[in-house]
Amino acid sequence: MKILFIGDIVGKPGRKAVKALLPSVLNRFKIDLTVANCENAAGGFGVTEKVSRELFDCGINIMTSGNHIWDKKEALGLLDKEDRILRPLNYPPGVPGRGSITVNVTGTKVGIMNVSGRVFMNPMDCPFRTADRELQSVKKETDVIIIDFHAEATSEKIAFGHYMDGRVSAVIGSHTHVQTADEQVLPGGTAYISDAGMTGPAYSVIGVEIEQIIDKFLRQLPKKFNTAKGDSVMSGVIIEINERTGKALSIHRLQMKSS
Ligand SMILES: [Fe+2]
Ligand SMILES: [Fe+2]
Repeated sequence: MKILFIGDIVGKPGRKAVKALLPSVLNRFKIDLTVANCENAAGGFGVTEKVSRELFDCGINIMTSGNHIWDKKEALGLLDKEDRILRPLNYPPGVPGRGSITVNVTGTKVGIMNVSGRVFMNPMDCPFRTADRELQSVKKETDVIIIDFHAEATSEKIAFGHYMDGRVSAVIGSHTHVQTADEQVLPGGTAYISDAGMTGPAYSVIGVEIEQIIDKFLRQLPKKFNTAKGDSVMSGVIIEINERTGKALSIHRLQMKSS
């Protein structure tokens, strides 16, 4: 089974890249399931129902997210009714939505989990222990499991990857918007990458207009950020999994330009 994971989709440029590039990727690589991080899909901040529909219509099956998922108010209601959009599992009790789902892909059950790190991030429940608890129930259904680990620090991401090694099919990092070159299948059979990268404007500071971010660093004043314009890049990884054992066979990075 082949799973495509698309890194954080940022605003209209990111959605445009998905629309232009995804059909050919699905076809060329014979992808069975597509998961994408949508935390920045609506104007760079959060997601709306309209935007999520647009992305599902492009061929994305499940969407994960992260700290920006609440930036648009309507996410509160949307995540309660749309179970194909996940938010990190390790929010405290009482938060809308869910952090994992199991779907049927051509006769094989696939579990998708979304977990947030907590180093240089908002305080969250322990990602390691929360994932352990969730795995106990997901494992009853399937061994084919992928986790979007939404985190800032590479140390926390790598540690989490090794902690999960042999128990899930893949741990894919998101949030930094910069693709890392450390993709590998860990000894226990878990595919790993620290960050899948961004799907959004290539000439930007992690998706935002360059001048705005430089000004923020220079003057430290509160500022509204706009998604940058221009050519876009679609970033992600393709993971091949033995659906009988749940072990990963390979992980390959993907970066494609779209004008
Ligand atoms: Fe992001
Ligand atoms: Fe994030």
